[in-house]
Amino acid sequence: TAELPNLTTEITEQKAAKPITKDITILFGSQTGNAQNLTKNHGNRLKENGFNVTVQSMSDFKPNNLKKIQNLLIIVSTHGEGDPPDTAIAFHEFLHGKRAPKLEGLQYSVLALGDSSYEFFCETGKQFDKRLEELGGIRLYPRVDCDLDYDEPANEWFEGVVSGLNLQSKSTVTNTVNTAPTSVQDSGYSRTNPYYAEVLDVINLNGRGSNKETFHVELSLEDSGISYEPGDSLGIFPNNDPELVDLLIKELDFSPTESVTINKQGEVLAFREALLTYYEITVLTKPLLQKFSAITANKSLAALLGKGNEEKLKDYMNGRDLLDLIREFGPLDTNAQTFVSLLRKLPTRLYSIASSYKANPDEAHLTIGAVRYHANGRDRNGVCSVQIAERIQPGDKLPIYIQNNENFKLPENPETPIIMVGPGTGVAPFRSFMQEREEIGAQGKSWLFFGDQHFVTDFLYQTEWQNWLKDGVLTKLNIAFSRDKAEKVYVQHRMLEHSKELFEWLEDGAVLYICGDEKHMAHDVHQTLLAIIQKEGQMSLEKAEEYVAAMIQNKRYQRDVY
Ligand code: 2AM
Repeated sequence: TAELPNLTTEITEQKAAKPITKDITILFGSQTGNAQNLTKNHGNRLKENGFNVTVQSMSDFKPNNLKKIQNLLIIVSTHGEGDPPDTAIAFHEFLHGKRAPKLEGLQYSVLALGDSSYEFFCETGKQFDKRLEELGGIRLYPRVDCDLDYDEPANEWFEGVVSGLNLQSKSTVTNTVNTAPTSVQDSGYSRTNPYYAEVLDVINLNGRGSNKETFHVELSLEDSGISYEPGDSLGIFPNNDPELVDLLIKELDFSPTESVTINKQGEVLAFREALLTYYEITVLTKPLLQKFSAITANKSLAALLGKGNEEKLKDYMNGRDLLDLIREFGPLDTNAQTFVSLLRKLPTRLYSIASSYKANPDEAHLTIGAVRYHANGRDRNGVCSVQIAERIQPGDKLPIYIQNNENFKLPENPETPIIMVGPGTGVAPFRSFMQEREEIGAQGKSWLFFGDQHFVTDFLYQTEWQNWLKDGVLTKLNIAFSRDKAEKVYVQHRMLEHSKELFEWLEDGAVLYICGDEKHMAHDVHQTLLAIIQKEGQMSLEKAEEYVAAMIQNKRYQRDVY
């Protein structure tokens, strides 16, 4: 019997010899564009490796198609207090609701993006991962949670996913993953290969006596080949404040010139240089404190991290930095190399571009508010905004890249009316929108709600709006200055005053844009919008919510919030 061929094996092998193409669907939920860019890159790499790839935003995906999918990849970010991106809300709700189908036979994997300085780190990704399992799906690779510096872990996840897919059909598809750099733009410049843009101008837009400093920054893109669309953002690689770095080095008592290795590729920098350019020193996160606790004998840090002290710990981390940490819980039983290996990479800062490429092909403009505050006994500065405010002059060069943002785009039809809500620096992308619409001679109506503290000192780009209003590029302008009168007036109050007309615009198909502060402004504007729809459309709150959900689905409610 031993000589008899094993028929079953032979048949499977014959079957397996036929090349098969694997179908993979990647669904992304993106707010600022990171998840979307990763999806695009990974999707292309899978295609190059012979897979049949469908890439879709969760907002475009028809949930009924879920049952037809065999291999599903989810790439999703988390915002605020553990919330999904706007474009992921409907799908997230569907999947967690009663109508979600059984998904036996589904193979999936989740890549979660987040920021470990937030309590609900990667929460949305975690929820998708858990829910897909509950519905019967099987992980083809474990979920990976990425912190701000997501390139490396995302790449590892991707390679894991590809080998997971290949394992299922070992002898047929022998895909190798090529490790192309991520998010390359046509120019060849990208987040992983930034362009050094010359600073042409830095102008404080606020008048004398203002509480604020908002800088208009003009960057040269000349000969870079870089282009962008209205609504896109620009990322800057900032440096830390040298004064803060020197205080930290003094406190740590390590040599500023000592060499430290900064990455897996073995690149080396002097310790001071590394703290200036490469590591985050102004934010405390729980994972960081846990690592610190392991290298200091300080008992009170261990206690702070202990059970029952979660609120105290949150309070402590809020408005404190590494210098505070070391002053309070140091000295550390370690050296410069180990110290830096505990730190996160200094994240880039994204700013909504305030100019239109078509109107200024060699330039990109930004509107940057200097972040300064006093907390826990010291003055604190926003890393990038105060670098621009205090240490950047025309002629300097800044490493930058463009971040496409498909979630914040002018309507394709130039006739479509637009409503723009952008108090403070939130007005930036709307300057880009107006420049673009003027440049292409768009005929669609437009309405801007702008607000800030004082009319006299804080009316950002005042003459530009007024000129556009005169020329008819801008149809309506409503302003809300919050500190000119005893009573606060905000953009949403102006919206409410014009609720009838605003609702008419919405009924005529207007796209509504909100840009600026997320926690307070965008939240309150959203509530006001619901109130307006209820009142003018004579709807219940539930119907008004459906109205807005449909707007999100049809890309008629777009937010760029921070
Ligand atoms: P305030 O600082 O006087 O409270 C830009 O920062 C403008 O947004 C300021 O006028 C600011 O007012 C205002 N603002 C603050 N909180 C807001 C909210 N919840 N909704 C709308 N605007 C707000």
